[in-house]
Amino acid sequence: MANAQHSGEHWASRLGVILAVAGSAVGLGNFLRFPGNAAQNGGGAFMLPYFISLLILGIPLCWAEWTMGRYGGRRGFNSSPGIFTAIWPHRAAKYFGAVALAIPLLIYMYYVQIEAWCLGYAWHYLSGYMTDVAALREQLGLDPQQVKDDAQVFREFFSRYVGSKEHGAVFAAGGRELLWMVMVAFVLNFVLIYRGVSKGIESFCKVAMPLMVVCALCVLVRVLTLDPPPGKPEQTVLAGLGFMWNPQPEKLLDPGTWLAASGQIFFSLSVGFGIIINYASYLRRDDDVALSGLTASSMNEFFEVCLGGLITIPAAFVFFGMALKDYAGSTFNLGFLALPNVFAQMPAGWLFGFLWFFMLFLAAITSSLSMLQPVIAFLEEGFGLRRHASATILGLITALGCGYVLYFSGGTKALDQFDFWSGTMLIFILAMFQTFLYGWIFGIQRGEQELHQGAHIRVPRIVQWNLKYIAPVYLLVIFLGIVWQQGPQYAKQIWNDPVVFGSVLFMLAVFVFLLVMVHIAGRRWERQGRIQYQ
Ligand code: PFF
Repeated sequence: MANAQHSGEHWASRLGVILAVAGSAVGLGNFLRFPGNAAQNGGGAFMLPYFISLLILGIPLCWAEWTMGRYGGRRGFNSSPGIFTAIWPHRAAKYFGAVALAIPLLIYMYYVQIEAWCLGYAWHYLSGYMTDVAALREQLGLDPQQVKDDAQVFREFFSRYVGSKEHGAVFAAGGRELLWMVMVAFVLNFVLIYRGVSKGIESFCKVAMPLMVVCALCVLVRVLTLDPPPGKPEQTVLAGLGFMWNPQPEKLLDPGTWLAASGQIFFSLSVGFGIIINYASYLRRDDDVALSGLTASSMNEFFEVCLGGLITIPAAFVFFGMALKDYAGSTFNLGFLALPNVFAQMPAGWLFGFLWFFMLFLAAITSSLSMLQPVIAFLEEGFGLRRHASATILGLITALGCGYVLYFSGGTKALDQFDFWSGTMLIFILAMFQTFLYGWIFGIQRGEQELHQGAHIRVPRIVQWNLKYIAPVYLLVIFLGIVWQQGPQYAKQIWNDPVVFGSVLFMLAVFVFLLVMVHIAGRRWERQGRIQYQ
């Protein structure tokens, strides 16, 4: 149906593509979002819906995305609008592709900011600034009589750093350091993306992933050998593990636990975001997708359950004990609020603090790169733009969005809105569409054949049946659950809070812009004979 006008880009090696996909998956979601979610939603009981979601949704959808991506790539497309149309030659298909562009783009707008927090914290640890609490208190101008508690000092530092006290704080004199960090993260992302799939993303992930494992293992060993603080013998690491992992079975009856678990699986595996489809489109016809998909997902689970699950909460428990409950509620903040207290107490805390935040930064950057690539690919193939032109356009759009999130930093409100609408709601819509596309349009028979082309393992047939019948229903039920449970609260906020309203409007504008772009690109592909509708 299309003449293969491929971008010509390919991954250089099999290990490289696995590390790139794993790099996209392993991110702040593994180390910050997962522990917070698990601790908040029943500890060990969270793991049951978590693993069920992994088996029913995560891994099967991941295979479907790898399969459809490679298929679309062979037909000359790297972006979701093109790939969706190659699979479903219908006028409507490409517009769903706009959702697959909007999600990573919107997530990037806030994710890069948290990436910058990590970079800033790593820098402060390296300079020894974060472990000297007395000096930090003085630097912040806090009265030692009033602010006795170290935790309060770190809280204050965090809220000033990210500007959560009031909107515009990070643009005001004295609060601008974060802006520099965001700029560094931004430039690094764009330099790597500009270098291309194999020279930029793949080469970077090949270095960053092993480095992350080394940093994380150093911190893990240190955390697992922490002693309880003086006078609090009950606050052991073991008790911390119990706090996180002991099941609270009553939580299984709460639909919120199921929603959180499946949302976590999507976010963490980068499934349902239009990322894997794009990455897989750079594969060659006979490159394996079955084992590679499974390996990348398993790597993500190792990072999430074995490293993320064993570091953040146990370490914070040793310090806070049961009071940690007050911290477990915040999604991304836990690592920034709780762990500095732990590092301040341990010998060579500056080093472990640096390793931890530097590791988080690496994890974040390998993920944020994957958010930019689908849009770059679309601009290139949709408009025939050169890399510098597409990178410039993308740079301008993301800078605008990032500026918005940075400016409306009071209570991290804009960030939370972007996270909820793009990272929670939209991913379900796209995932539902993808299961429909794979199960009902592409067809599970063709899917199974395509998946096994060049495969190094055989995937049981039940996975195909699951993708056609079970996964879409499971997704729909969970999506309706979210709408029912959280919808009214968010809808009310939209009308009552101008910043929330503005955030939603901003996201909508980005989405409409992408729809228009997709429409124009579609016309161009039609004229070129690259797509023909049936
Ligand atoms: N999977 C990443 C994480 O766990 O932090 C998050 C992510 C990556 C979200 C890529 C969205 C995305 F497009």
